[in-house]
Amino acid sequence: MKPVNKLIQQDGAIQDRAIFWDEDIYQKEMEEIFARCWLFLTHESIIPDEGDYQSTMMGEDSVVVARQKDGSIKAFVNSCTHRGNAVCFSDGGNAKSFTCPYHGWVFGMDGNLVDVPLEKQAYHNEIDKDALHLKKIRVESYKGFVFGTFDDEAPSLKDYLGGMAWYMDSFMDVPGGCELIGPPMKSILDCNWKNPTENFIGDGYHVGWAHASALEIAGGPLAIAKGNAVYDAETSGLQVTVPEGHGFGVIWEGAAALHGGPVFEAYQKWLDDRSPLIREKMGEHREKFYRGHWDAAIFPNCSFLYGTNTFKMWQPRGPHSIEVLTWTLVEKEMPDQLKQMIHTDNMLTFGTAGILESDDGENMEQCTQTNRGYSTRQGTLYLGMGKGHEYLDPELPGLVSKGWVNEAPQRGMYRRWAEFMEGKPWSELSTTAQLEQKKVGG
Ligand code: FES
Ligand code: FE
Repeated sequence: MKPVNKLIQQDGAIQDRAIFWDEDIYQKEMEEIFARCWLFLTHESIIPDEGDYQSTMMGEDSVVVARQKDGSIKAFVNSCTHRGNAVCFSDGGNAKSFTCPYHGWVFGMDGNLVDVPLEKQAYHNEIDKDALHLKKIRVESYKGFVFGTFDDEAPSLKDYLGGMAWYMDSFMDVPGGCELIGPPMKSILDCNWKNPTENFIGDGYHVGWAHASALEIAGGPLAIAKGNAVYDAETSGLQVTVPEGHGFGVIWEGAAALHGGPVFEAYQKWLDDRSPLIREKMGEHREKFYRGHWDAAIFPNCSFLYGTNTFKMWQPRGPHSIEVLTWTLVEKEMPDQLKQMIHTDNMLTFGTAGILESDDGENMEQCTQTNRGYSTRQGTLYLGMGKGHEYLDPELPGLVSKGWVNEAPQRGMYRRWAEFMEGKPWSELSTTAQLEQKKVGG
């Protein structure tokens, strides 16, 4: 593997193509990024009752996340400590325990080994069941969104989110909070996991072009962006990157704007009715973010579009493939009918066969697969749009850029990628708090 400073250059603007293809880089990502970062597991609303569980992946590790008797949430690796078999073969459900189908060891919903067949006769009662629990995962929840990490040294989830949490509160901290509608739709894309993360974190540039036809069919107010016919960098929106590697772009007044017809009208009315509450609770900045449409990503592989209501995980399956998990993001206090309308629209736009998802999938796959060519792979790629025009805003966390067409969040993502891949300890990783110091001249 080349040195990291050769893989990512010019503050994230230049990427060596090998990072989208090489197996050794991918394995290093598993070690330095996926075994350390907080990774989204599920939402509390999906496992509300004792015994509810979901199985998912952290990197390429199969894991189970489950609601406990005391209401807490625990997660553990889905691999039996006897011979390694999976103990849970289902995507989710409700259970009292998990029984390994190979030799019958039984694990409780907390991952502890509770029963072993022939314990007396064959193990002579000498087996140390306490030591043979499933590998446990550190779990924390932010406003109902449940994340896990394998790294005991990782900061709290709140600190990991850094300045992004302040922005996400605009919709996560509304009265009643948010929830996800599942089970997630699932599909396979033959692309590297970073292609969709960089797309969602800040690629407003492709919207008017790659989605021109889909925008017309969707028919919402955002359809005016097709073919880049309408774009004003000064007034249309912002892009934000925080040092923790997360970021987003916002189109002002766009929250409902990708929905067409009755969905747009019902959702817009909901936003109008709720806005005074948001302003009262969180101030006018976050009311503005609440009413905007966001493309966003939480480093490394969780993405969402607030407004189009799609919430996704890009789960790596080797360097050239991912499994996409798609939920629908709604406010908990929305009427059921509105939730259902939004959910249907999400399936039509960003579900497995959604019209916008199909546009993106084709492009992302080719962005990875062209690097199959040895000579192609020797080159680099360029994310220099708006470089040098980011600024510190006294009232907004992170680095801010004008307009929603920019590449600053992608550069931020690759700067973070490089920090992790250099193997830096948490104490040496950049933080929003350090950036805030600069504002006060520290
Ligand atoms: Fe699970 Fe043997 S592998 S009981
Ligand atoms: Fe897209």
